[in-house]
Amino acid sequence: MSAVTPAPTPDLMQLYHMGGPWVGQTFYVAAQLGIADHLGQEPVQVADLAARTDANEEALYRFCRVLASMGVLEAHDGRRFSLTEAGAILRSDAPGGFRYGVMLQSGACFRAWTEVMHTVRTGEPAFDRVHGAAYYDFLEANPAENELFNRAMGVTSLAPAIAALDRYDFTGLGHVVDVGGGGGTLLAAVLRRNPGMTGVVQDLAAVTAEAPAHLAAEGVQDRVEVVSGSFFDAVVPGADAYVLSRVLHNWSDEDCLRILGRVREAMPAHARLIVIDSVIPEGGGLHPSMLADLFMMVILGGKERTEGDWRQLLDEAGFRMTRAVQAENTGGTLVHALVEAVPR
Ligand SMILES: C[S@@+](CC[C@H](N)C(=O)[O-])C[C@H]1O[C@@H](n2cnc3c(N)ncnc32)[C@H](O)[C@@H]1O
Repeated sequence: MSAVTPAPTPDLMQLYHMGGPWVGQTFYVAAQLGIADHLGQEPVQVADLAARTDANEEALYRFCRVLASMGVLEAHDGRRFSLTEAGAILRSDAPGGFRYGVMLQSGACFRAWTEVMHTVRTGEPAFDRVHGAAYYDFLEANPAENELFNRAMGVTSLAPAIAALDRYDFTGLGHVVDVGGGGGTLLAAVLRRNPGMTGVVQDLAAVTAEAPAHLAAEGVQDRVEVVSGSFFDAVVPGADAYVLSRVLHNWSDEDCLRILGRVREAMPAHARLIVIDSVIPEGGGLHPSMLADLFMMVILGGKERTEGDWRQLLDEAGFRMTRAVQAENTGGTLVHALVEAVPR
């Protein structure tokens, strides 16, 4: 495992205020109203903006003043506002899908945080208590939320996972299954960099529906099979490599053992398992994966894991961990490491 420099411990009051709900909810409302889509470099009267976004004019004026103080907007004479260069990151068409990430994290997921006490007292996900359904069942029943999830899981949030796989040597691994591979974005990136390879993307039907169009846009449709089916039931057999990217942290150890069991059954003796997920550094410092661990517990009953946790979990599932490569901490909400294992 490569060395990790722990982040310095910030001032606690500053941490509370900056990471607190006020700022998050301010971004959320800006994203939800599509403020960045309604504004450009030309200043717009707040009355106009209120009409376009169906908001109260006076409240929106005070709200925009806050966004201006944060550098999202620029304030002009006569209660007019324009979008700053930095604020353009909140536009729907900005590369990276930040707007959708904000809407995902600070909408239904944020409402679950109001019951975080329930999670800490019982170990159960607060999301289920607040929304009456487990997270992935909730997404299946709410197409708009599901679409938001797919957009938020798009290219930028995947960039660290893609970078981790870029550094991975796929020599001799001709056929790969991306288990819980979403719309195929990660698999497409791997296949584009490894022209001789073929692959399978397996996920739930609501998610794979989008895959063919996406794979065609990436020009890899002829090398990919799209399979709809739960990884709790079966995983596509016979590949040289199995990727589980940002999947296992959604699940408890017990559920992970079920998923890994299906992967273990499906894979030939020579195949490799490649897990992309956080690895919590052992030893102090507020690493992003610590807060992500709490998020996983509150939303999904999932878990971020230390290198020792990974070794033990993989061992129990019939694997031998061969490597754990930590990723650079660039200050995002998650740091994706690569953990490799082979069947025992
Ligand atoms: C956090 S996303 C990660 C997606 C993708 N691997 C990535 O790195 O962007 C977790 C994925 O697991 C999928 N998933 C959840 N339950 C599943 C199940 N029972 N069977 C197959 N996939 C499932 C979700 O639909 C989602 O695409």
